[in-house]
Amino acid sequence: MGSPNIAIVGNGNLAWHLSGVLGDRAVVASRSASASTVTYQALAGMSLDAVFLAVPDNRIAQTSEELSGLLPPTLPVFHTSGATPADRISNRFCHRGVLWPIRSLRRGEPVTHWRDLPLVIYATTEPAGQLLRRLAGDLSDSVTWLDDRQRAQLHLAAVFSNNFVTALYEIAFQLCRQHDIPFELLLPIIRHTAGSQDGQRPALRQTGAAARGDSATMDRHLSLLDQPEYQKLYRDISHLILQYRLSEHDPHLGRDANDDLEDEGVA
Ligand SMILES: NC(=O)c1ccc[n+]([C@@H]2O[C@H](COP(=O)([O-])OP(=O)(O)OC[C@H]3O[C@@H](n4cnc5c(N)ncnc54)[C@H](OP(=O)(O)O)[C@@H]3O)[C@@H](O)[C@H]2O)c1
Repeated sequence: MGSPNIAIVGNGNLAWHLSGVLGDRAVVASRSASASTVTYQALAGMSLDAVFLAVPDNRIAQTSEELSGLLPPTLPVFHTSGATPADRISNRFCHRGVLWPIRSLRRGEPVTHWRDLPLVIYATTEPAGQLLRRLAGDLSDSVTWLDDRQRAQLHLAAVFSNNFVTALYEIAFQLCRQHDIPFELLLPIIRHTAGSQDGQRPALRQTGAAARGDSATMDRHLSLLDQPEYQKLYRDISHLILQYRLSEHDPHLGRDANDDLEDEGVA
């Protein structure tokens, strides 16, 4: 067993996963050392190839600044945030970059197939890029190079496809619970809908009352919702679904979709 050559700074969710998959190659540095971690100062005496920052997004600048007083400026430093530009890392380090796993990661919930987990990478210099490609390729078969602007857009898209969808599941859960219906009855359709995404436009697979323009069913649904914000959400998303349906046939029609919705009694 050799000495660790990769430092992970921070000891939260991401660090738990990254240190698990890197095994003996990694050492975790924490603000307060424990049996399984070292201090930031202890990193100064180690022979490291790279540092991964696994601290909150708003601590990347300050933590890297603090580390720059301890570590050589030529040591590549990567953060792990989807939404944060690489240059948020202190410019006292010449090789900076990002490794962002597209997954919600929680301590104690192991990733079953790391090699299937998509990793987005970016580096500010060629040597850092080469190192990062190699490290990321050791972990996953899905490694994609995206610059800061693209990664920020992808992070935003992940909010729609992950966080917002989970919020909609929560509404479904509440509706079921209020009426003594097992939420589990919806799990097969939830899994089927997610599993049937194949990289094509999701709108092409859309079904349901709004996609059919079935205003009678939509009115019934609205009358069953007693919370105004859920009624608004129902109307707004139904608008979107109909806009997508119209733009599917003729991209210019999408502009006038609100008029069509009013005609169909959804507005
Ligand atoms: N969790 C995810 O799902 C996920 C997925 C992709 C990317 N990421 C990225 O991974 C990075 C870390 O996220 P995380 O979910 O692992 O965060 P987290 O669970 O909150 O852990 C962050 C760790 O940073 C350290 N830290 C250093 N300074 C801190 C400060 N001032 N306040 C609080 N903690 C501080 C703490 O460890 P010590 O106290 O031991 O130093 C803390 O455990 C973020 O950039 C995030 O965007 C997270």
